[in-house]
Amino acid sequence: MSRKLNIAIVGLGFGAEFIPIYQRHPHANMYAICQRSQDKLDAIGKAFGVATRYQSFEDLLRDPNVDCVHINSPIHLHASQSIAALRAGKHVACTVPACTSLEEAREIVKACQESGKKYMMMETVVWSREYLYVRELRDTGKLGRIQFVRGSHLQNMAGWPGYWEGLPPMHYATHCVSPCLGIVNGEAEFVSCLGSGRISEARIAKYGSPFAFETAHFKVRNQDLAGEVTRYLFDAARQYRESFDCYGSETSFEWQLTEHDDPVLHVGGEKVEKVKIPDYAHLLPAGIQDFTTKGVYDLSENVHLSFLQGSGHGGSHPHLVHEFVSSIIEDRPSFPDVHQSVNWTMVGILAHESALRAGEKIQIPSFRGL
Ligand SMILES: NC(=O)c1ccc[n+]([C@@H]2O[C@H](COP(=O)([O-])OP(=O)(O)OC[C@H]3O[C@@H](n4cnc5c(N)ncnc54)[C@H](O)[C@@H]3O)[C@@H](O)[C@H]2O)c1
Repeated sequence: MSRKLNIAIVGLGFGAEFIPIYQRHPHANMYAICQRSQDKLDAIGKAFGVATRYQSFEDLLRDPNVDCVHINSPIHLHASQSIAALRAGKHVACTVPACTSLEEAREIVKACQESGKKYMMMETVVWSREYLYVRELRDTGKLGRIQFVRGSHLQNMAGWPGYWEGLPPMHYATHCVSPCLGIVNGEAEFVSCLGSGRISEARIAKYGSPFAFETAHFKVRNQDLAGEVTRYLFDAARQYRESFDCYGSETSFEWQLTEHDDPVLHVGGEKVEKVKIPDYAHLLPAGIQDFTTKGVYDLSENVHLSFLQGSGHGGSHPHLVHEFVSSIIEDRPSFPDVHQSVNWTMVGILAHESALRAGEKIQIPSFRGL
């Protein structure tokens, strides 16, 4: 188990957060970075001591030393870059969402299967300490039978890079969909969604999406379970909330209403307990354990806005790195694997389609038989 994988990170906004984690992971060598402008590329390369630098993604893929590509570029590039990297024989980790259409979802699965390489969507929520806590309640039998799951991702994204302006809320739904499906080891079979309210006309024009909120129900394939998720991105007055509730027959977990409060456990009928969520750094190699409690990229001034707004993404970054690298070293499916990654993303894509069609029920294809 002494093998080290050569990692390349593409996109150095949010992506820069991961550089020092790979540098300290026992099975990774933080080999190369890639982003468009030379000045930022060199500044970050120098700051972290990464010598191999590419402005061109295509040049990066031609480098035979690169084993794995971790993509953190803007949303519309995720699928095409993932597919190109898989076809170039690289393992791929890609930030959320995996894709923006069903065709892209199918192509990711196809490229993954044909290349024999790993693909993992780097969904922060399913490696957050809150998720790991609920997973522990599930695995120790405390929840009993899971009866219902619910998520919300309420975030005002005014002022973020231009491609966010007017984005259909459900096109970025993985943070609320993924924990619901992850905790039941599930994939969604069909979805129905309603849009509500109206964003400003200037924002509507960009993606033809009028809704302030979108709220969806989905059925879990091959299980007698359903989930519900709600999203907004613009023109609503609500503090940031990336929540996940899990209702069990014995115990239920409910996310706090406002930030800096604690979640609640409902035990049996009427007993209610606030819980302090423990940290799960002990699950990680010693060298990266301290990354669960702090941002890593120039913490004092430049920490990525999503890290601040997202309460540090629940300490998930080192867990994501460890899961991706371990899945390759141990040659096993990652969590999430390629099928879960595209299914959890398609829930949102098809939820938006459903909202445009007044809540029509839409089947979600499975690409397991490809
Ligand atoms: N919690 C989370 O999981 C989370 C949080 C924040 C951001 N994200 C995701 O990370 C992605 C990046 O977010 P950001 O805020 O850093 O975006 P950004 O627009 O600030 O940065 C994008 C980066 O990608 C690079 N890039 C763009 N086109 C490229 C190309 N063709 N080849 C190589 N590099 C290219 C840019 O140079 C830049 O470094 C987004 O897609 C977002 O969905 C996820």
